[in-house]
Amino acid sequence: MNTVTLTLNGEQTTATVEPRTHLADWLREDCRLTGTHLGCEHGVCGACTVLIDGQPARACITFTAACDGADVRTIEGFEDDALMADLRAAFTREHALQCGFCTPGMLIAARDVALRARDADDHAVRVGMSGNLCRCTGYLGIARAVKSVIDARRGPVAVAANAPVANPAARPWQGFTPAADESSGLAPAVAARASPTPVAGDLGPRDGWHRIEERFVALQSIDQVWAAFADVAELSKCLPGAEIDEARADTAKGRIHVRFGPMRASFNGATSLERDDALREGRLRGGGQDSMTGSRARADITYRLTADTDPRRTLVSIVLDYNLQGPLAQFSRSGIVRDFTGRLVAQFADNLNARLQGNAPAGGATGRATEFDAGGMFWQVLWSRIRRLFGGR
Ligand code: FES
Ligand code: FES
Repeated sequence: MNTVTLTLNGEQTTATVEPRTHLADWLREDCRLTGTHLGCEHGVCGACTVLIDGQPARACITFTAACDGADVRTIEGFEDDALMADLRAAFTREHALQCGFCTPGMLIAARDVALRARDADDHAVRVGMSGNLCRCTGYLGIARAVKSVIDARRGPVAVAANAPVANPAARPWQGFTPAADESSGLAPAVAARASPTPVAGDLGPRDGWHRIEERFVALQSIDQVWAAFADVAELSKCLPGAEIDEARADTAKGRIHVRFGPMRASFNGATSLERDDALREGRLRGGGQDSMTGSRARADITYRLTADTDPRRTLVSIVLDYNLQGPLAQFSRSGIVRDFTGRLVAQFADNLNARLQGNAPAGGATGRATEFDAGGMFWQVLWSRIRRLFGGR
């Protein structure tokens, strides 16, 4: 059993739970907060959406034990929230609910959209809400309700004092600002050199897009790494799940395979590459669609190389801007996605370093794409979180 202390709807709460207890079960069965609904219990439908540290999260796939120290807010915790009051009124006015099963999760997601996308048009509202499913298919009324609240509140937003700030991922980007990081082994001087010049042509925040920044150390000189990054086809062999059909100097077509628990997707699409030799930075712009789930993905990957004080090493900073629509969109903003991305980049870095040193990366060198098994990663992520919980590394 684990003892966890967390803030639940503004009150500090301590509980003893089994490690496997999901947050939604604990909320409903132990706390009697039954406004958190359970639909799919797979992280797909969004009925169980709550706020964890101000960000929407799926309570059905979150372990209560992992919420130690967190601020959890369920639909019952918005009684004094002005924005939620407006949304509730709008849902009633616009007939945005029939059976109401999806409504608690919809309202929490809608509030997040209204906070982040103050200038959202109809399309942006639909994209923002696309991670929540309504089995009564009341989407027209839901989109109308959310849009009407955004329109009415345009300008300075009057949010309740206890409302969380918008998702940190949606903050205006300040450019690459890597801090000195012991785990990378980089000399502080290198970290200082790598900051904080904004990347030319910064894409900036965009409605419905999310941003994740990562970095790793490549074990070759900056010239060698820069040359490696020019070869899209070779580079794709380092990326788990990527498969290239056709590659030219600055464009490529192919697909990327991902699996998340019961959901599988193969995004067929194309990418183009822009490079700036002087700044040693480049940008891959891509988009694709999965015909099975109907999910669509767009991504811009901006990378920058910085020389280390050790000329045999190069710091690679990566900014991933992405936009997911359709059934996979519900994974867009969870903290777990950040963990997955971190592991994906780590795997890519391992494969790239193996390739730079003349060794074949596992899976990638065969020419056959390996699936990016987010489901397998899921357990690794949970395991690492549990280890962190117990003070392990
Ligand atoms: Fe959690 Fe469906 S019940 S996402
Ligand atoms: Fe019935 Fe959405 S109103 S599931």
